[in-house]
Amino acid sequence: MKKNILITGGAGFIGNHVVRLFVQKYPNYRIINLDKLTYAGNLANLTDIENEPNYVFVKADICDFEKMLEVFKTYGVTDVIHLAAESHVDRSIKDPFTFAQTNVMGTLSLLQAAKELWKEDYKKHRFYHVSTDEVYGALEFDDTLFTETTSYDPHSPYSASKAASDHFVRAFHDTYGMNIVISNCSNNYGPYQFPEKLIPLFINNIRHGKPLPVYGKGENVRDWLYVVDHARAIDIIFHEGKTGDTYNVGGFNEWKNLDLIKVMIKAVDKQLGKPEGHSLNLITFVTDRAGHDLRYAIDSRKLKNELGWEPSLQFEEGIELTVKWYLENQDWLDNVTSGEYEKYYEKMYGE
Ligand code: NAD
Ligand code: TYD
Repeated sequence: MKKNILITGGAGFIGNHVVRLFVQKYPNYRIINLDKLTYAGNLANLTDIENEPNYVFVKADICDFEKMLEVFKTYGVTDVIHLAAESHVDRSIKDPFTFAQTNVMGTLSLLQAAKELWKEDYKKHRFYHVSTDEVYGALEFDDTLFTETTSYDPHSPYSASKAASDHFVRAFHDTYGMNIVISNCSNNYGPYQFPEKLIPLFINNIRHGKPLPVYGKGENVRDWLYVVDHARAIDIIFHEGKTGDTYNVGGFNEWKNLDLIKVMIKAVDKQLGKPEGHSLNLITFVTDRAGHDLRYAIDSRKLKNELGWEPSLQFEEGIELTVKWYLENQDWLDNVTSGEYEKYYEKMYGE
């Protein structure tokens, strides 16, 4: 069936993997990648598919409601997969307004545009909202997991803004009958992640012999999933997820930060031909993040049992691939950290 799918945030880390998967797997879908190209969005992530006939890029801000109406009309948008967001917890602690604006008001602007253009006839339309496990708050060091029925209890301005956006999406289902689906995923890792997040930042620092700033004692636990497996889950949930439902996506792959950092050090040192343990002295304990959530862990059995999704990669394999990608793509890292690409695309697409 022909669809015109608006993917927001497609120039970001997870978005580019979702765009690539859909463009390549579904030649009969037109994929409209809408992105504001903030510091986190980078069209260089998509050069391999940018000339495909079923791919279009639109530079726009999801908060611009009139522009969203125009985009829906111009491209006859049939469905939305919404990933655009401000996504870094540390930035949200410094600048919560931007997070409320993009994550809450931006989501609302898209929902309202979809509602007006689809004229509340949702049979052929779907609004898929991509969210995070951080809305559930934090777990203790025990064997509990976040399930789809865990109460929302966000702690950071980032997770509070994502929780608010999830509530708005659900409200559009409950109030107007919109065909929505939401997924809440654990921490992603893999190629094209902006090097402010733990894994790319630390791989880059190890390579350059720079200190590795470990927050607190490095005891916090995260559940890590290879980004391509998240994109596969989004494909399945988009096509087969039940209207109004939530699906948790996770790797059953919990790591204490300090243990994960040692795995990265080992992999980077090995790939650079350095002796084992060479970079361990880069570990530097720094002041803890304010309100630092202790532990996240996802129960993704519903997704497995109902829709048959499972992670395809073992973590050891995923981390080797990830380290290899960042070591082989130093130019990409240098470009995104220097801000050169921002100037370039501003010139190309205007403001
Ligand atoms: P990212 O920060 O790498 O990318 C976000 C993208 O959104 C960028 O391309 C950016 O330019 C774009 N964007 C930001 N503000 C915009 C606006 N106002 N209008 C249009 N585009 C805008 O984020 P990511 O890690 O790829 O995360 C994507 C989504 O997945 C987010 O909604 C995030 O909450 C969610 N998520 C992320 C993770 C993770 O581990 N990274 C885990 C679970 C869920
Ligand atoms: P991050 O990649 O920012 O993801 P999130 O905060 O969404 O989980 O951080 C992952 C974990 O690593 C988190 O517990 C914070 C910690 N961390 C550090 O210890 N040092 C750092 O420099 C960064 C960026 C994160």
